[in-house]
Amino acid sequence: MKGKILVTGGTGYIGSHTVVELLSVGYDVVIIDNLSNSDISVLDGIQKITGKRPTFVEGDCTDISILRSLFKANPGINGIINFAASKAVGESVEKPLMYYRNNLNTLINLLELMPEFGTKGIVFSSSCTVYGEPDTNPVTEDAPIKPATSPYGNTKQISEEIITDFIKSGAPVKSIILRYFNPVGAHPSALIGELPNGVPQNLIPYITQTAIGIRKELSVFGDDYNTPDGSCIRDFINVVDLAKAHVVAMERMLEDKSDDNIEIFNLGTGIGLSVLELIDVFQKATGVKIPYRIVGRRSGDIEKVWANPAKANNILGWKADTPIADTMLSAWNWQKYLKDLGK
Ligand code: UD1
Repeated sequence: MKGKILVTGGTGYIGSHTVVELLSVGYDVVIIDNLSNSDISVLDGIQKITGKRPTFVEGDCTDISILRSLFKANPGINGIINFAASKAVGESVEKPLMYYRNNLNTLINLLELMPEFGTKGIVFSSSCTVYGEPDTNPVTEDAPIKPATSPYGNTKQISEEIITDFIKSGAPVKSIILRYFNPVGAHPSALIGELPNGVPQNLIPYITQTAIGIRKELSVFGDDYNTPDGSCIRDFINVVDLAKAHVVAMERMLEDKSDDNIEIFNLGTGIGLSVLELIDVFQKATGVKIPYRIVGRRSGDIEKVWANPAKANNILGWKADTPIADTMLSAWNWQKYLKDLGK
């Protein structure tokens, strides 16, 4: 065993893929999840892929007494990967307090318990949303932080500040903040993937649900942006590639590979792809046609953003290299698997 890692939100989309990667390289994993946006059956998928079943605690990380009991019942937790958070931009505008409570209280509780239980490092899931509409692309980590346009985005900015201030205060913990671009796709086994709650807000689950016939057609939000084909540009990163970065980041902290107690990395491919280009890749990779219609812009959308991942490539020795066509195929295979399950 390499060490014991607490994964909050470990049955969720990115969490479950990261648990698989942690188990595969020999970490012991404890998951806490309140199952608010995931299903307990995810544990079966993880077990089928890895042959191992992580310890699971059903609970809410905003309750520090639940977390304290977890730390006592599972002594020797070396690191934390914190995925437990609410993540829907639109919902955060409707329910700001829920977002601030879930996302900030969870982080504060975890940080508070780390010194108490001798936990050394925490990986935090941040987002390229902190860059807002960047002045130039690709975006490096030292690009200016722009005022948040949603409570969700604000929780990511505030969380980065909370971690920074805590570490500056001399707290005996390390942190690596990972700024994700657009995570997409599913595990190649099709045994785990993204399980959206209700009508998907994000592009890929909407595409796959349209492809399988759950949705009639995809609305493409805007074709009058200042981009070559007029649709928005994003950096779509394969979820397994993304998950692997967490393992490398954890190792870096636990093995003291850096003198810095806090580090920030962009996680992206470095390639900007437009919404229309992505639809095309999906159709070619799967052979399935996506009925779509151009509609008006979605309020709050960023025109174009893609990563300069050089810092993560050079310092973490990590690279997102799964071809986008393979990623689209994995998303499609996962959608077909869900259909077989009747979901
Ligand atoms: C958003 C957030 C990001 C958050 C992520 C996950 C911003 C700027 N970005 O990313 O921080 O981590 O959600 O919740 O707040 N699109 C369509 N039709 C659809 C759905 C999407 O055309 O049915 C387009 C969008 O207009 C956008 C692109 O697809 O241009 C990607 O959208 P989406 O998957 O929702 O991700 P982001 O908005 O980039």
